[in-house]
Amino acid sequence: MRLRFLYIALICLFNQSFSQNYEVKVDSLMQLMTLQEKIGQTVMYGGHWDQTGPFVGADNGKYIREGNMGAMLNAMSAKGTRDLQKIAVEETRLGIPLLFGYDVIHGHRTIFPINLGLSASWDLKMVEESSRIAAEEASAEGIHWTFAPMIDVSREPRWGRISEGAGEDVYLNSVIGQAYVRGFQGDDLSQPNTILACAKHYVAYGAAQAGRDYHTTNMGEGELRNVYLPPFKAAVDAGVETFMSAFNELNGVPTSGNKFTLRDILRDEWKYDGFVVSDYTSINEMIQHGFAKDSIDAARIGMNAGVEMDMMGHVYRLHLQKLVEENKVPEAYINEACKRILLAKYKLGLFDDPYHYIDEEREATTAYKPEFLTKAREIAAASSVLLQNKNNALPLSKHTKKIAFIGPLVKDESDIIGNWAAQGDRGGKAVSVFEGISEYLNSNQILYAKGCDILKDDDSGFKEAISISKQADEIVLVMGEDHHMSGEAASRTDLKIPGIQPKLIKKIREANPNKKITLVLMNGRPLNLSDEVNLVDAILEVWFPGTMGGSATADLLFGTVNPSGKLTVTFPRNVGQVPIYYNMKNTGRPIPESNPKEDYKSNYIDVPNTPLFVFGHGLSYTEFEYSDFKLSSENLTFSKTIEASITITNTGNSDGHEIAQLYIHDKVGSVTRPVKELKGFQKIFLKKGEKKTVTFTISVEDLKFYNSEMIYGVETGEFEIAIAPSSDFKFKYSFQLQ
Ligand code: NOJ
Repeated sequence: MRLRFLYIALICLFNQSFSQNYEVKVDSLMQLMTLQEKIGQTVMYGGHWDQTGPFVGADNGKYIREGNMGAMLNAMSAKGTRDLQKIAVEETRLGIPLLFGYDVIHGHRTIFPINLGLSASWDLKMVEESSRIAAEEASAEGIHWTFAPMIDVSREPRWGRISEGAGEDVYLNSVIGQAYVRGFQGDDLSQPNTILACAKHYVAYGAAQAGRDYHTTNMGEGELRNVYLPPFKAAVDAGVETFMSAFNELNGVPTSGNKFTLRDILRDEWKYDGFVVSDYTSINEMIQHGFAKDSIDAARIGMNAGVEMDMMGHVYRLHLQKLVEENKVPEAYINEACKRILLAKYKLGLFDDPYHYIDEEREATTAYKPEFLTKAREIAAASSVLLQNKNNALPLSKHTKKIAFIGPLVKDESDIIGNWAAQGDRGGKAVSVFEGISEYLNSNQILYAKGCDILKDDDSGFKEAISISKQADEIVLVMGEDHHMSGEAASRTDLKIPGIQPKLIKKIREANPNKKITLVLMNGRPLNLSDEVNLVDAILEVWFPGTMGGSATADLLFGTVNPSGKLTVTFPRNVGQVPIYYNMKNTGRPIPESNPKEDYKSNYIDVPNTPLFVFGHGLSYTEFEYSDFKLSSENLTFSKTIEASITITNTGNSDGHEIAQLYIHDKVGSVTRPVKELKGFQKIFLKKGEKKTVTFTISVEDLKFYNSEMIYGVETGEFEIAIAPSSDFKFKYSFQLQ
């Protein structure tokens, strides 16, 4: 017995020192590897997933056996990954395990709201909890690595991928990105329930021209460094293990061949030591960009720029060896890439036990655990935003005699989980709004008509919809986008609610001029709701809320949960205002408050400059009053911080959460500064009648930016400051930095 204990203790000790010596282990393993085997680690191919397991194409199997593949995407399940791992471990010369990657974006089986929605919760704990659950579920199916979080700042509602990020703000994308990383990676990567995260898409992908996916981005270095790079730096600080280069070109250089962003900034300035994977064939796409003359050239440019793994492109496998032999790619780059990839495998514990993520029992018992579903319901409710609530249309009462539920998304169990929904079930598991409200109402209180489809022009269902709307006491419309309308390759030039749904809304209002109408919206981007705000009373933006979306929506509609989400992206009045975002620069001719229509000012002649719904906006069923703003000093110094505080009182009739936002404006700079910038926020819970004081600490760190010489620093002068419920306010207070 004692001997056995000693033996176990020795093994533990060995493993501990083993993990402390990853670098040494990798170096000695690499001594045994041929150049071709090292290149093999930089290659990723896809498994063609089907019901019973990943289909290992003849080539995939061959590449693994030859040591020509280091990672796979879209391969999962305990059985499937075991079969593949077995080939790598047992049939290759060195037995190096494979890495399995997959897009676990807003949940794996239990699906949470799309990321733009989740960001509207302004709740870092919830972001972390959701990605922790996603990692639990994904890792139980053999997955080691997710291609998330997407931390592309985007001010482009036409761009379908705005749904995958945290909106338009630099600070929010930074802290939310860090929360995802913490959730996915946990505290100890060697545990089989943690997975590698990936900061993507590096960089400026969210600024695609005209919102068209994969399109060109052009910007000055100041904008790049002040707006698009900070979330990536924040991810590095949070310990993100991998990066993904992007599809777009940036100022003429594709980001998957961009030495400046990948080597000069990421490696030299930020000292990042994880590995960089390309986006799907983005190395090859440099040919179409007109930056590489052929696939050999693309491989050369990609590796020399610092892209260390080729996702699906075939170019590293085919060309790197020759490029090294011809001295066109330094062998040191291959060594670095291989070492970083192997280090990630070590950290995951795959060299201790290549099968340690593979456990049929864990797989069978992890997905959709009741506690995951409870969390998903809570998070979906916290992510929804009450945009408008005229005539107190919401909350609904359980005692209303008849409520008509109308629209193509009332009974939907598929769109509700949104795009990039990994292995989320689009039926059965997903709770529709109809099922959700059925928890609150008896069947004789519910009237239902689909009315129309999201995308078809057939209005034959209007008649029934109008007829039931007339029989009801109140009306709830559940409408929005199809889930294919957001995500990758889903750009739109029109931001209206799609199809004939707006027409149906109009008809229903015409038929019911005095009834309360609520519009529940599911969509993946800011929409132009300029007509709808006048046609309906309440608008509840639930995004694509996920597996428990229907229950969460019902909780909000009936007031069991008080809405608390706030927009992380501006909703324009029309597509012509785009790009429109709260932290814009001023012009030399701003609109004078006293005369908004004055000529020769920076305004539109057809609509106001202001958006329909501002960044940070979101209503509650209660009211919050902000009072007693205080600054601990009006002078900030380089060595001391100051404090800003405000008292918030819940003056309404129910308990609720409020999100207090700290904004600062640097009045005069050596380069112009945005009219306001979010620098912090606090989400607090206040019981009816309760008040609390929120306090923010401000230091010079909060005031830094890159100047025209690309020096990061702070400039003395006057700074305006406010703590407000949204970005729609005028500054009244300021402090000096001397
Ligand atoms: C392309 C997408 O741009 C990226 O976000 C994703 O991770 C990869 N495909 C892998 O599916």
